[in-house]
Amino acid sequence: EAFATTLLVLLLALTAAVFLKSDLTDWLWLQDQNSCACGKRLSKDNLRALHRLNHSVEPFLTVNTNLSEEAFRWWKHEQRDFSYYKSTVHKLFELLPPVADHGEPSSDSCRTCAVVGNSANLKGSRYGSLIDYQDVVIMNAAPTKNYESDLGTKTTHRVMYPESTVDLDNSTLLVLFPFKINDLQWVIKAITTGFYGRSYVPIKFKIKANKDLVSFMRYVHEIWLKKKGDYPSTGFMALILALQICDEVSVFGYGADDDGNWSHYFETLKSKNFKTGPHPGKHEYAIIDELPCTGRI
Ligand code: C5P
Repeated sequence: EAFATTLLVLLLALTAAVFLKSDLTDWLWLQDQNSCACGKRLSKDNLRALHRLNHSVEPFLTVNTNLSEEAFRWWKHEQRDFSYYKSTVHKLFELLPPVADHGEPSSDSCRTCAVVGNSANLKGSRYGSLIDYQDVVIMNAAPTKNYESDLGTKTTHRVMYPESTVDLDNSTLLVLFPFKINDLQWVIKAITTGFYGRSYVPIKFKIKANKDLVSFMRYVHEIWLKKKGDYPSTGFMALILALQICDEVSVFGYGADDDGNWSHYFETLKSKNFKTGPHPGKHEYAIIDELPCTGRI
């Protein structure tokens, strides 16, 4: 079945962060990361979060991911138990090939990445060719057709969750952020018989895409966002993922409008009260604002 052979789903989720004690080497590394020319210094907390990037959380969920029950309880949104989660993951990986190695940035090459949010500030930006110029382009799920001059034509990774899926071509990896076990089941069904279940909005019952899966939402929520908001936005998770797999990250299309709403480049905002939804938008933006000091953005 063509769908099954061409599916890539990067499942983002649940790995508990490993809290490492700083030793002298870590301390020196931290100092090095904090020396920047832009005047602003990273706060101690964000510096620590950045530090953990290099050590701890594996973003990609695999069949061997040893998820703790505590992390499962943090993540789950429905009345299902841990063994049900485990059997679902097992079933999922029976269907999917092993995760492609996205690896950490290597010392002998420089992998450049663009991470593209959906902010209305992209409209008329003409960032298209700059975005296309990066090796990796991580897009959030939104229309790119007819927005080529602002967004470019290249998408190597597309971040989404079942409610926001679109079909992908063979050169784009699907990065899925599962917010519930239902989402894992959706993957299983969407690549085989089709998904006939329900979610809070109608969801696509089959998906054409290219293969595998990821993890680390809890790490982003707890370590980077200090548990603020209900959960991180997909765009913020995409950004942290980019820091993990890229040497140099360029950030496009993030930021609220003047009223504090997350309006989009592809539509007129319907509710002026939306703000940044369940996500800690202001806090996320403040972190994005500080990150250039690391020299990685
Ligand atoms: O709103 P939506 O989830 O479609 O946008 C994708 C991501 O882009 C968000 O998760 C958020 O991180 C970012 N965004 C933003 N400012 C906006 C709109 C979106 O930072 N005005």
